[in-house]
Amino acid sequence: MAVLPTFDMLLFGGTGDLVTRKLLPALYRRYAAGQVSAESRIFGVARTALSRNEYLIQAEAACREFLGKEFDAPHWTAFSGLLNYVKLDAAAEMDYAALKTLLKGRDDIIRVFFFSTASNLFSVICRNLAKAAVVTPLSRVVLEKPLGHDCQSADLINTQVGAVFAEKQIYRIDHYLGKEAVQNLMALRFGNALFEPLWRRGLIKHVQITVAEELGVERRGQFYDKTGALRDMVQNHLLQLLCIMAMEPPASSDPDAVRDEKLKVLRALRPLRDRDVLTKTVRGQYKAGAVRGAPVPGYLEEADIAADSRTETFAALKVDIDTWRWAGVPFYLRTGKRLQDRLTELVVTFDEVPHPIFEMPPTTRTANELVIRLQPDESITMTILAKNPGEGMRLKPVSLALDLGETFKTRSLDAYERLLMDTVRGNLTLFMRRDELDAAWAWIDPIRAGWEQYDERPKIYVAGSWGPAASSAMIGRDGFAWHDEL
Ligand code: BG6
Repeated sequence: MAVLPTFDMLLFGGTGDLVTRKLLPALYRRYAAGQVSAESRIFGVARTALSRNEYLIQAEAACREFLGKEFDAPHWTAFSGLLNYVKLDAAAEMDYAALKTLLKGRDDIIRVFFFSTASNLFSVICRNLAKAAVVTPLSRVVLEKPLGHDCQSADLINTQVGAVFAEKQIYRIDHYLGKEAVQNLMALRFGNALFEPLWRRGLIKHVQITVAEELGVERRGQFYDKTGALRDMVQNHLLQLLCIMAMEPPASSDPDAVRDEKLKVLRALRPLRDRDVLTKTVRGQYKAGAVRGAPVPGYLEEADIAADSRTETFAALKVDIDTWRWAGVPFYLRTGKRLQDRLTELVVTFDEVPHPIFEMPPTTRTANELVIRLQPDESITMTILAKNPGEGMRLKPVSLALDLGETFKTRSLDAYERLLMDTVRGNLTLFMRRDELDAAWAWIDPIRAGWEQYDERPKIYVAGSWGPAASSAMIGRDGFAWHDEL
C-alpha cells in the first residue's frame, strides 16, 4: 500500500467520542498498514487543559479498547510519536496563535482540519482559522454530520465555511459512504451489466432500506434529544443509501459525476407535505424492554433526556421518486434505536411471474428478492424459486448467497480509515456536496413541519422489537411487509 503524502491533521473535538473511539483508531490502523508517513503529525484539539502525555494516555486507552487484539504496543509507541495535543477554546481568537506557531514552515504540505464538534461551532472555528492565517491552498476541512438542524441553519454554516474554504476543500462526512459494503453496492450496480436492465419500474415492485440498531442513545442524550432519528439518520445515511440504490449510472467515478447523479435523485423525491406525514411516515419512541435478553430502560429514562420528550428514536417512511425509472415503485425507509437486531439491509423485491405455470409455494415469498446486507456481515443474497426435489413440479424459494467476508477473507477498512485517507488524497467522491445537503434538508424539513402541524407524537414501541405496529401497518396498506416480518 502506497505511503500517502505527509500531512498535518488537526482534530477539533479532540477529547470527544468520535475522535477517541473512531478517528484515532482509524489513523493508527492506517499507520500500522504503512500508509502514513513518519513526518505526518496529528493534533487533538480541545478546550480541556491536558498535557501531551495526559492526552496520549487517554488516546491509548481508547485505542486499546476499540482495537482489541489489533492493538500492538510497538506500533502504538511509533504512532504516538506523531500525536500531540493543543488546548484551544474554539471561540477564543487568541488561542489560535498556538496553531500558527505549530504549523509554521509547513504550508507546503497537506493540512486537514477535522471538525468533530457541534456544527454551531463550525463557522467560528473557520473565522478564527482564517484570522490566524493558517488556511493554506493545500488545506481542507472535514465537517462531521449533522450539518445544521434544518435547511436554514445548514445554509448559514455552509456559507460561513465557504467564506474561508473553497467547495473543493470541503469534505462533508457521511460515514455510511465510507463503508466497504456501500462501495460494494456501487460495484454491484455499475460493475455488472446484469442488474441494470432489471433496475426499474415494471420489474421492481418495491425497495426497502432498513438501518436498525440495538444500541440506545448511549452517552449522547443531550445531542440526541434535540436531534431525533429523522435528522440523525434519515437526512443523511438513509437518503445516501437511497441515492446509491436509485441513481442513474454516472459517466465516470469522478466525484462530481457521482454527486451529480445522487443530487438528481434527491431533487426527484416527492415532497411529503401536509397530511402525507400521517400516512407515509411513522415516528416511534422506545419504552423499556429487553434487547437480546438483557433489560434496557426506556428512552425517557435515559440520561439527559427531557421527562416529556417527544423526540423520535424510530422513523419509517414511504418515499416516491418522481422519475421515469422509479415512477410507481415505493421505497420504504426505516431506522431506529433499541430494535431487535443490528442490521443494515437493502431489499429489492422484483415482480412475480405474470402467469404461474407451476405450483407456487403457499407463502408470500413468490417474488425474486435481492438482499444486500451491509451490517453486521456483508452479503448479497438473491432469492430464486427452484424445483422442490421429488415428484411433481412444486417450487420453493432458495438462496444464491455470497458472503463477502468469507469470499475475500480480509478485514474491510473501517469507514473512517477510508474517509480520512481520502481527505489526504484529495478524493471527494465519498463526501457530500453542498447542493446534495441542501436538497436533503429541503426534503426533510416539511416532514418535521407536518409532524408539528398535526401534533404527531411518537408511537411507543418496546425496546427489542422492530418498532411500532404503525410501521408494519404503513407498508401493509400497500400489500407488502417488512422483510423481517415475512
Ligand atoms: C451516526 C449516528 O451517524 O451513525 C448514530 O449519529 C448512529 O446515532 C450511527 O448510532 C450508526 O452508525 P453505524 O456505523 O454504527 O451503523
